[in-house]
Amino acid sequence: MQALLLAGGLGTRLRPLTEHLPKPMAPVVNRPWLEHLLKHLRSQGLSDFVIAVKHNADIIRNHFGDGRRLGVTIAYSQEPELLGTAGAIKHAEPLLSADRFIVVNADIIHHVDLMPLLEFHRSSGAMVTIGLTEVEDPSQYGVVQQTPSGRILRFVEKPPRHEAPSNRINAGIYVMEKETLSWIPAGRAVSIERETFPLLIRKGLPVYGCAVRGYWLDMGTHDRYLALHRDALDGKIGLQLPYPMKAEGVWIGEDTHISSHAKLIPPVVIGRGTRVERGAVLGPYAVLGEGVTVQADSRCAHAVVLPGTRLEGNRVFRHAVVAPDFMVTTRLPGDLIRQGVMQP
Ligand code: GTP
Repeated sequence: MQALLLAGGLGTRLRPLTEHLPKPMAPVVNRPWLEHLLKHLRSQGLSDFVIAVKHNADIIRNHFGDGRRLGVTIAYSQEPELLGTAGAIKHAEPLLSADRFIVVNADIIHHVDLMPLLEFHRSSGAMVTIGLTEVEDPSQYGVVQQTPSGRILRFVEKPPRHEAPSNRINAGIYVMEKETLSWIPAGRAVSIERETFPLLIRKGLPVYGCAVRGYWLDMGTHDRYLALHRDALDGKIGLQLPYPMKAEGVWIGEDTHISSHAKLIPPVVIGRGTRVERGAVLGPYAVLGEGVTVQADSRCAHAVVLPGTRLEGNRVFRHAVVAPDFMVTTRLPGDLIRQGVMQP
């Protein structure tokens, strides 16, 4: 089955990280998330992909090419302008060859088994099946109201907690029949959440929702970006980490130089070519990209450091995303925001 990955958005909430990077290419434990995602989908038997691109499209094209390196095929749907989540699907229509396909928001960090979703879609006769995930606090989201058979009656935007009809929200993963595309106008920006799904429901068309099981997190903000790294190092996402584990909870790439007078507090990831000077304290939950320098007596914890960054000596980097030209610190001191994590 073909899968269409939506990867063209501006990622404004993750700026400046996303100024020169499509959000799905943001590194997750030192690999672009989109690469983890393609591998995860490949492991479920999907090998035919269309990626809908716009913002910084060349970065995606140049990284994946035709997909051969990953053992998949990739075609690109290039939008002339941002067309929104539904407009992007409509624009990809000429590349969608079968009557049924999967759509995935490429910025959703997930480790979900798609087969039950496909099975549900087949057996319910839905035109669209929306993968749903459960959140602890639905008051920040659009939640769904469903019939016992799973048909979606309406979306309720940001309901007060006690009035929410459910705690299930759109997970950004859909199974669609191609006829859905006839309900999306061409040539203008259309949002699938705000326009297309409500329209289909108003028209009485069969839109169903089915809970997906497994890790799920929308990486869209800096605190969630840090939270997902924490979860990755805790082994909750099921990601393959890119380097060997040199000691319990310590992953180190090649060609690193780590002073014997530095301290590593697991979990820690140290990217290839990184230099850690004496007196530095790294961890817990420090992820250092490739070619990073940690100067003497610097401390870094609960942080993601992007490739090529120099962490100045004698400074503390906590709850932060740090790059060569910016640093974003989050407001959250302890446990980072948790949302949408459903245990299998
Ligand atoms: P924010 O600006 O921070 O809201 O991020 P975003 O618009 O990039 O992401 P959003 O969460 O709204 O979109 C969900 C997914 O759809 C992301 O993977 C986006 O890259 C993708 N997306 C959003 N708008 C478009 C679009 O106009 N075209 C394409 N091809 N993809 C889009």
